[in-house]
Amino acid sequence: MEPDIDFVGRDVVSIRDFKRDDLEHILKAFDDLEKHRGSLDGALKGKLVALLFFEPSTRTYSSFQIAAERLGMTVTGFAGPTGSSITKGETLHDTVKMFEGYGADVFVIRHAKMGAARFASEITDVPVINAGDGSREHPTQAMLDLCTMKKAFGKIDGLRVGMLGDLRFGRASSSLAYALSNFDVEITFIAPEALQMRQEVIHFLKQRGVTPRRESTLEKVAEDLDVLYVTRIQKERIPDPTEYERVRRIYEVNLEALKEAKPSLKVFHPLPRVDELATDVDETIHAQYLEQAAAGLPLRMALLNLVVGGGR
Ligand code: CP
Repeated sequence: MEPDIDFVGRDVVSIRDFKRDDLEHILKAFDDLEKHRGSLDGALKGKLVALLFFEPSTRTYSSFQIAAERLGMTVTGFAGPTGSSITKGETLHDTVKMFEGYGADVFVIRHAKMGAARFASEITDVPVINAGDGSREHPTQAMLDLCTMKKAFGKIDGLRVGMLGDLRFGRASSSLAYALSNFDVEITFIAPEALQMRQEVIHFLKQRGVTPRRESTLEKVAEDLDVLYVTRIQKERIPDPTEYERVRRIYEVNLEALKEAKPSLKVFHPLPRVDELATDVDETIHAQYLEQAAAGLPLRMALLNLVVGGGR
């Protein structure tokens, strides 16, 4: 029997708050929507979503906006600080309180500072969805990554997942690692020492019974992997510009780098990409990143429906 899971009013601040049953529930909601496209259209008519993006975004902002509009919601907020009173020094606290006063039914917040979404969730009873905070968490990205893996392989258990690039400052990779720790997977972190996964993440994984392997080059593990999750070097978060210049071209995943890979290997990337993933991979059977990005729309539609409730 399916567990009794109620998401209505729930904050989505950290993927660590979501156990396997919760994630299975979200995977099912995504799958149902994929099978019955249009089934949630207009389901949240009359509800208001405030998209508060204090940091730039293409995919997360747009997919939440389109998802909310398909659900019939009214969308308010801002796509970046320009054009809002943040440029005059208005605080996150006051911004949240303003939109609460306007009757927001859910907040979607992206912020450069880690903990911003958690802070917002503590000052309002309106549910808060974290759309990425600093270098720590991007829970809805991890959810759409899981949905894409399940769609591509028919399962998540048993997969061998390699994460490559800037694992220290990239929030997508840490959130995905946390999410995968609910499943029976093998994880390999591929990064130079300066960009290796943070100890707090490794500690969490070990507590969940997952001991990740650590490598510095893709060659050593390429032939073993089912999923290669490539990430951008986070120029905006690396404190030292000299260090950024040293590591920025350290990896380039291209046809040559994938020559030992299994034909069934799928390459993921949360996007945007810069130098780390060559366009010559785009036309290969390995490329999964455009389908991955597209999954953001149904995932965020299903999630808004679960959190706001009152829908179908
Ligand atoms: N993957 C992701 O979060 O992309 P954006 O920064 O464009 O939202």
